[in-house]
Amino acid sequence: MSLRLVANWKLNGSKEFNHHWAIEFFSNFHGNNFSSLGIAPASLYIDHLKGVIADHDINIGSQNIDLEETGARTGEISASMIKDLGCVFSIIGHSERRILFQETNQMICKKLIQAENNSIIPILCIGESAEENQNNATFEVLQQQIIGALENAGELSSLIIAYEPVWAIGSGKTPNPEDVNSVHEMVKDVVQSRFPKIGLQSVLYGGSVNFKNALSLFEQKNIDGALIGGASLDGKEFASIANVFNESRI
Ligand code: PGA
Repeated sequence: MSLRLVANWKLNGSKEFNHHWAIEFFSNFHGNNFSSLGIAPASLYIDHLKGVIADHDINIGSQNIDLEETGARTGEISASMIKDLGCVFSIIGHSERRILFQETNQMICKKLIQAENNSIIPILCIGESAEENQNNATFEVLQQQIIGALENAGELSSLIIAYEPVWAIGSGKTPNPEDVNSVHEMVKDVVQSRFPKIGLQSVLYGGSVNFKNALSLFEQKNIDGALIGGASLDGKEFASIANVFNESRI
């Protein structure tokens, strides 16, 4: 299984939404292989969504996991719990969690270890702020985030990295695809050269991906897929992006 297009539904959804999304998605998706697709609904709806898409093997994951397995940690959800519900991946260290919930690289590292211990594929998010981008500090910031999250993580059998510039998320702005390509090349180099025990599967791009800009991104050699927020809430648009992705890989 190689996850390439992952929907991040963030704090959106309902049982009604799951049904409607599935109708829209399945009536517009032209492919018959679902193994590269993933959806991260709000954790509360994982079980329901699994039931709704039961006939299709789209991967389900969570948007976050706790850094501990069990304990007095009111409100948290562990990697073993999402595994129990049939999840195969979890987004970890999304910039919204780093900014709004003060997640540090040390916490993110513990979450990666929890994911590994429970055979959950982590999608580690990294990304620079607008200011860091303007100051040409992108590579430096990303390297710090990668090293900070991975240096104490030990052996990880599989890891996906999502490069999501903070200024591109939900803003309608996307970086130039060639620039994203160079960032992804650097990310692959850093992980492969510094962390030979980490099985990097792919590097996805995230930040205002939509049907219109998808092809220009997917044409780039080092962009292996995308993590999609806003545009993934519309089942028809997510299907259209998946169709573009499949056509770009023929
Ligand atoms: P966006 O979000 O596609 O709405 O920009 C992407 C993300 O935050 O993962």
